[in-house]
Amino acid sequence: MTEEHRELDTPLIRPRRLRRTPALRRMVAETSVMPSSLVLPVFVREGLAEPRPISSMPGVVQHSRDSLKKAVSEAAELGLGGVMLFGIPETKDATGSGGIDPGGVLNLAITDVVAEVGDQLTVMSDLCLDEFTDHGHCGLLTADGDVDNDLTLAAYAQMALAQAAAGVDMVGPSGMMDGQVAVVRQALDAGGHHHVSILAYSAKYASAFFGPFREAVDSSLQGDRRTYQQDPANAVEGVREVLLDVAQGADIVMVKPALAYLDVIRRVRDAVDVPVAAYNISGEYAMVEAAAANGWIDREAAILETLTSIRRAGADVILTYWASEAAQLLRR
Ligand code: PBG
Repeated sequence: MTEEHRELDTPLIRPRRLRRTPALRRMVAETSVMPSSLVLPVFVREGLAEPRPISSMPGVVQHSRDSLKKAVSEAAELGLGGVMLFGIPETKDATGSGGIDPGGVLNLAITDVVAEVGDQLTVMSDLCLDEFTDHGHCGLLTADGDVDNDLTLAAYAQMALAQAAAGVDMVGPSGMMDGQVAVVRQALDAGGHHHVSILAYSAKYASAFFGPFREAVDSSLQGDRRTYQQDPANAVEGVREVLLDVAQGADIVMVKPALAYLDVIRRVRDAVDVPVAAYNISGEYAMVEAAAANGWIDREAAILETLTSIRRAGADVILTYWASEAAQLLRR
């Protein structure tokens, strides 16, 4: 080989130089995950004396009202951004009345959590009927068994008022009914709750990855949610849903699930000027936990890589069952 040749073969530009030491890698990292952008979803079940494990989500439990207080205090100490509360009533009915009842488990839990950590965390609540209905759908049914959009909106308005009265900071309408953000905003404002903000589940897909959540909330759903949640094939439509929600007054918009929809997160981040959240859902959690339990992946590395990828796609806020643990990992 001639001298001239060797020069041509030698890379002038060597990206590896910036990967040589941990300090260099840290310095040029484009994306970070901070505890303050993580939100912990928590389940509280009516009538429990002790927390009850959720078998498909190892490490996640249905809380009693007492164990919930402990979990949210820990979340506050770790500097998380907030908690998202889900309630599981003892009895479900056709109209999901337990979600509207001021003495219902979710509304009581909101008041408990606000009293415990309301000055340190953003307290959020799921605003949807599926945890409370015996048919498991997110809305009220017509005689034919269809989900009635506008009848459901009236129920969401009442639910928003009950959650606001319980002291919530932010409601999370997650039922994918048309017009739900506007109706919730109007109800809150008419009730004097201008300060209560809305995290809209805007681009929410009919996903197989919600499976473990159905166990977490003792769901009785038969069939699927394809007439209201989105078709996984559609990204443009996801942006459309987001724009509609922003126009209706959403303070934060969300894409859900996260991992199979990172492209949608990016499109949404580029399309709006409000914070974008992403929900790292139950099935995403369960896959990593199951693989790690088998020794097939490095659990902690997989958790941090997952959260980093969702942030890199454009999410400002991440709802994740790993929130408290990730905050601890990030401290190290
Ligand atoms: C509806 C709701 C669901 C989830 C959050 N809110 C379930 C669904 O739409 O079927 C799923 C969360 C998860 O899978 O982690 N109230």
